Amino acid sequence: MCGIVGYIGHREAYPIIIKGLKRLEYRGYDSAGIALYDGADIKLSKTKGKVDDLEKRIASEISTTGSLGIGHTRWATHGIPNDINSHPHYSNSGDLVIIHNGIIENYEALKKELIQRGYSFKSDTDTEVLINLIEDIKKNENIKLGKAVQIALNQVIGAYAIAVFDKNKPNEIVVAKLGSPLAIGVGEDEFFIASDASPFIEYTKNAIYLEDEEIAVIRRHKDIKIRKIQDDSLVNPYVQELQMNLEEIEKGGYDHFMLKEIYEQPHAIKDTYRGRLLANKGIIKMAGIDDNIEKFQNASRIIVVACGTSWHAGLVAEYIFEDLARIPVEVEYASEFRYRNPVIHENDVVIAISQSGETADTLAAIKLAKSKGAFVFGVCNVVGSTIARETHAGAYTHAGPEIGVASTKAFTTQITVLTLIALKLAKAKGTISNEDYRLHLNELALIPEKVLEALKHDEHIKHIASIYKDAKNCLYLGRGFNFPVALEGALKLKEISYIHAEGYPAAEMKHGPIALIDENMPIIVIAPKKGHYEKVVSNIEEIKARQGKIIAVVTKGDTSVTNLADHTIEVPETLESLSPLVTTIPLQLLSYHIAVMLEKNVDQPRNLAKSVTVE
Ligand code: G6P
Repeated sequence: MCGIVGYIGHREAYPIIIKGLKRLEYRGYDSAGIALYDGADIKLSKTKGKVDDLEKRIASEISTTGSLGIGHTRWATHGIPNDINSHPHYSNSGDLVIIHNGIIENYEALKKELIQRGYSFKSDTDTEVLINLIEDIKKNENIKLGKAVQIALNQVIGAYAIAVFDKNKPNEIVVAKLGSPLAIGVGEDEFFIASDASPFIEYTKNAIYLEDEEIAVIRRHKDIKIRKIQDDSLVNPYVQELQMNLEEIEKGGYDHFMLKEIYEQPHAIKDTYRGRLLANKGIIKMAGIDDNIEKFQNASRIIVVACGTSWHAGLVAEYIFEDLARIPVEVEYASEFRYRNPVIHENDVVIAISQSGETADTLAAIKLAKSKGAFVFGVCNVVGSTIARETHAGAYTHAGPEIGVASTKAFTTQITVLTLIALKLAKAKGTISNEDYRLHLNELALIPEKVLEALKHDEHIKHIASIYKDAKNCLYLGRGFNFPVALEGALKLKEISYIHAEGYPAAEMKHGPIALIDENMPIIVIAPKKGHYEKVVSNIEEIKARQGKIIAVVTKGDTSVTNLADHTIEVPETLESLSPLVTTIPLQLLSYHIAVMLEKNVDQPRNLAKSVTVE
């Protein structure tokens, strides 16, 4: 993980880098650092903590002038988060400086060799090994920095997005990528480097996304030369125009990105189906499916690979695909799938779901599936991300940037895309009646309004949060389509409030979790009118008999559950298969308010990161 930023051009680099690092803190935030070239020397400052801490330290430590610099925000892999392990790292001579996102797997062997050659190391990081390897090659072979970086990277096993500069050649930055993302913003006589385009979007909309195994030498007042690391062949830079705008990546008056993103869902879901769902014509248009319809129709099964919240969206998809399109579905944690020698056939369709499009395990699962001949379809949010590029075809969620580490709008928009696909396939396969198909299309078109209505209970949910904020444990129960919603609700609470929570299929409660229930245990039951309602009511009775505290998410106008529960939160009625899109909203808000009341860092919970680019 980690976020990297760099600048070379005619402006002061410091403000650009600091602002950029703040935007990239979603990628890791246990330490941060910066290195600037001030016209004579490198000025470097780094610290354990967040970018705010770095800013404070810089104020008393270094001058911030200079039009060339690099910065880093870290999510620790090798070496605990402390000042020394923070990036940037110097080479032994102090001439070279590097920032790195990724892992050098063979760093120990390389380090041993370097120690034998007289190098010493201050940190425990793999990155300091890499910069000294580059220095060693550069000195021994008396070559330019770009060439030395290229040779060094050919000796490296692992993943990286790096930026390096040499204080003796302060007119160039060398960057390279394998596995971790790296974008170059191309401005007027200036260049920006970043893990994604958000740090430079207000300066330029022109970006080059480096491909794996590419190295670029970026020169002030000149151009960019991109080469393949392995065979040194020149690559023609492909400059794309970005669609993103600045408002999308700012908080817009909300206290936290998470809250903003929760409230964006009506809009985001509409953006997801815009141009695809033509409800009054009874049509769903999705190029990625239309172009590959036979693959889907002939698929013996669908395997979903994903991690975290995206995995939960995959579980919802399992219910929807099997129910509507009658295709068997298996949902796999990408990290398990990639290492367990799974049976994959050529007529399997693999759907990889990933908000960031960069998750290392999901990417590895895709590569494995492709190597076995399966057709791989991606459902990603970040346009141009690695997974979007690695898959045979795909559909974007178009949710807009999601900055809060706890995923919200990504989840509901993923479910929206997957529902569209399931409906399209059901229609193509004839597994759904015309009437039912039209009903689903019309209902899906109404979901944004219903999500908006669900959001109106925010104050009531805040009140419930104030009652249960000090709970030590919570249980989330749901059945059918709403079982994955229970898992997702529990995950949200764990992620941002650090309260232990578990999601369970409501009926499974009897096989274990019921032993935990006493008068101190809040139990959140997702109990919409459609879908095993009577059974869920029985489960609620069982909880009640053991004095558990019941917070129920119910359909508007409900009476049976309302009479039993300690608190109810209403959501509008919809089809059972679409209900996760509305029942999940109160659970997001509940976690949010509890975390705020507990004074936790909602957008950047401890130990987590938005994009997990290490396995
Ligand atoms: C991290 C994030 C989660 C996310 C998961 C998968 O753990 O904190 O919010 O669900 O990665 O990420 P992806 O980008 O592949 O959906």
